[in-house]
Amino acid sequence: MGLTRREAELVNETIPALRQHGEHISTVFYKSMLRDHPELNHYFNSVNMHTGRQPRALTALILAFASNIVNISELTPKLERVAQKHVSLVIHPEHYEIVAKYLIRAFSAVLGPAMTAEVNAAWTKAYWLMAKMLTGREAIIYKEFGAWTNWRAFTISKKTPETIEGDIVSFNLAPVDGKPLPPYKPGQYVTIRLKIKGLKYCQLRQYSLSDAPRPDSYRITVKRDIGSGEDSKPPSRQFGSLDDGPPISSAASSASDSSIGSVRPHRPGLVSGTLIDDFQVGDAVELTHPSGEFFLDTDDPNTSPVVLISAGAGAGPLYAILKTVSEQGKGRPMSWIQASRHDAPFRERVEKIAQDDPNIRLKFFRSRLADGDVISLTSRFQEDFIGLNWEDLWLHDKMTQYFVCGPEKFMTEIGGHLLKNGIPESRIKYELYSVGSFEMKKN
Ligand SMILES: Cc1cc2nc3c(=O)[nH]c(=O)nc-3n(C[C@H](O)[C@H](O)[C@H](O)COP(=O)(O)OP(=O)(O)OC[C@H]3O[C@@H](n4cnc5c(N)ncnc54)[C@H](O)[C@@H]3O)c2cc1C
Ligand code: HEM
Repeated sequence: MGLTRREAELVNETIPALRQHGEHISTVFYKSMLRDHPELNHYFNSVNMHTGRQPRALTALILAFASNIVNISELTPKLERVAQKHVSLVIHPEHYEIVAKYLIRAFSAVLGPAMTAEVNAAWTKAYWLMAKMLTGREAIIYKEFGAWTNWRAFTISKKTPETIEGDIVSFNLAPVDGKPLPPYKPGQYVTIRLKIKGLKYCQLRQYSLSDAPRPDSYRITVKRDIGSGEDSKPPSRQFGSLDDGPPISSAASSASDSSIGSVRPHRPGLVSGTLIDDFQVGDAVELTHPSGEFFLDTDDPNTSPVVLISAGAGAGPLYAILKTVSEQGKGRPMSWIQASRHDAPFRERVEKIAQDDPNIRLKFFRSRLADGDVISLTSRFQEDFIGLNWEDLWLHDKMTQYFVCGPEKFMTEIGGHLLKNGIPESRIKYELYSVGSFEMKKN
């Protein structure tokens, strides 16, 4: 049952105060939760906690849900992304009990006397409405996964540099149990779990599958994350050392301090750098079942054109789409448009596929944006992209589907250009290689 009118009013009245103190809520909530439940550090990405990106995403979604309670359909895509992420992290209903306790407690800390028993009950109900939507969807996804719903052991069966610079490397991963792997929808990702020497907690990261599905192994393609200059600076305050558990002293410590993760990352590129530098053929990793809402539905009988626009490691999931569609052999028109700062990963493979398939158009161009360069837009990039002709983008076909994956700035530019050309948002899909959902800013 939904909220009564009175409960909805109570929730709505407190939203402005909660929004205003969103950062504080996130900080207090996660710090106290991770202090009392240190085992949850095995689930959360310590870097996203440290930068505050994850807590902000969760609090923002709950507040959006509460303020939008009568029009939930608008949030459906966001909820789907979260549910897919949660199942890939093996989150279960019992975890929601823990989050409920600490989140409502953090709301109380911010609202003070305004958090009456009645308001508390209304918020608790609102939280559970949302939690039930998520756990309901997650239960369905787990069911679809069949027998594989937990961490599964893999070994690296092949390691291939994808660029001359060696900053993008593919890993073929074969299941230790030798049983056939389930197929996935091209575009989806897996979560990898690593134990990194010197760190107390496991590190979890998502990597898109970068090949057409095969029963014997999956392939991921990892780009070394070097962060930006800003990231390398020491944070204002440091929690914990690399090999220590949570030295979090007080849940109610400085509100302005968004450093939450119990492990302060020692360098950007913790997992990508470790995989590329230290992991070799034969080494063990763990994966969860492929998931994610960014994919091409290859069961769809529709064979309208597909335009794949990528930069950097974003080429991985798009290559999976290109290869899968081309293997289907239905003659579906496709455009492969790829920006790269130096060497374009997958270029040779893509050119080989296109040689045998006259329905594929290729465009490669150089761009500083391909590396997530946010210094400025180079005019070269704009010229290149805007110079793409009508046919390259299949603009004349009203059913063309667009898949865009690359750094945020890159996706914003591409999305803006497509929208300007009259493509409706519903035909453009973006994959964000981070926490939170990518949204095109509306002018
Ligand atoms: C759905 C999905 C699919 C993905 N697919 C791929 C893929 O196919 N290939 C791929 O290469 N990546 C992919 N990613 C990204 C990947 O999961 C990792 O986020 C990426 O490899 C970086 O992880 P890391 O441990 O190497 O870097 P981290 O150590 O986690 O650092 C990541 C970033 O955090 C910032 N940062 C780090 N430390 C600090 C600090 N102390 N203070 C402030 N900021 C800091 C920096 O900007 C740095 O660049 C995907 C992500 C998602 C969500
Ligand atoms: C109603 C309750 C919840 C909401 C609204 C919520 C919301 C979110 C959101 C918005 C994200 C970011 C998704 C993305 O775009 O990548 C996320 C990720 C995540 N959530 Fe939840 N969540 C809830 C419950 C839980 C619970 C119960 C747990 C387990 C304790 C959990 C653990 C995680 C983890 C580990 C991530 C990934 C973080 C990362 O990669 O940095 N969440 N959640």
